Amino acid sequence: MKKIINFDTILSTNLYFKENYQSLDNLIAVTAKHQTLGRGRLGRIWEDGDDLLMSILIKEMLDINKIEKISLLIASSIYKVIKKYFHDVTIKWPNDILLNGKKVCGILVESIISDKLECLIIGFGINVNTLKMNDELKDKATSFSIESNKQYSIENIAKEVYETFIDDFSNYKNGSKEYLEICKTNSCLIGKEVSYFSDKEHFAKVIDILENGHILLLEDDGFIEKSSGEVSLHSTFYHKK
Ligand code: BTN
Repeated sequence: MKKIINFDTILSTNLYFKENYQSLDNLIAVTAKHQTLGRGRLGRIWEDGDDLLMSILIKEMLDINKIEKISLLIASSIYKVIKKYFHDVTIKWPNDILLNGKKVCGILVESIISDKLECLIIGFGINVNTLKMNDELKDKATSFSIESNKQYSIENIAKEVYETFIDDFSNYKNGSKEYLEICKTNSCLIGKEVSYFSDKEHFAKVIDILENGHILLLEDDGFIEKSSGEVSLHSTFYHKK
């Protein structure tokens, strides 16, 4: 059994590893009840609530080209856990899990590079006991409690996600592609029309999620593969399966 370090309040669980990774072991996890500088993708702020805030440190199998696969791997582990509690759970490539069509989890995988890739930091926030989203988020985001009117043990969910990920990471190292199948089968995007901005607005149909973690799109002039760093997909109608 590896280790989970629990904090009451820190700046950010991802930042904690950025500052301390050298002295910490591979596959250690950190959680916090509150973050004062919680960070989301694209420089956004991650709102603080009564939720699971966790990061896992990876110091082996390091390859910058694997970051997108690791994102899918953690998405599939989190998917499996949330699916134990709820029926309508989908994965929105590359970094979100949706519950009843609204975002319930966001994932932020970061890397530290000096001369070489030093470590990967897998951070995620799962909205668990938050009862109310602010006006900006309420149509787009949800929590376990909002969907069920129940409260949950964040500690238990942390343990379940961590243990599931540790197993899945071990299988991944042995060549398992289960995570990719889970991300594809439960994708809320495959088969849907989306748009993204790159010089101009592009419209495309999502065809597949590829083994390298990229997405395969069909546009008017043919198939095109995009990495998660290249596109941010938008649609008003991809939420429901
Ligand atoms: C997203 O933008 O959807 C990704 C959000 C990731 C938030 C989590 S909360 C725990 C970890 N610490 C952070 O500062 N960010 C991640």
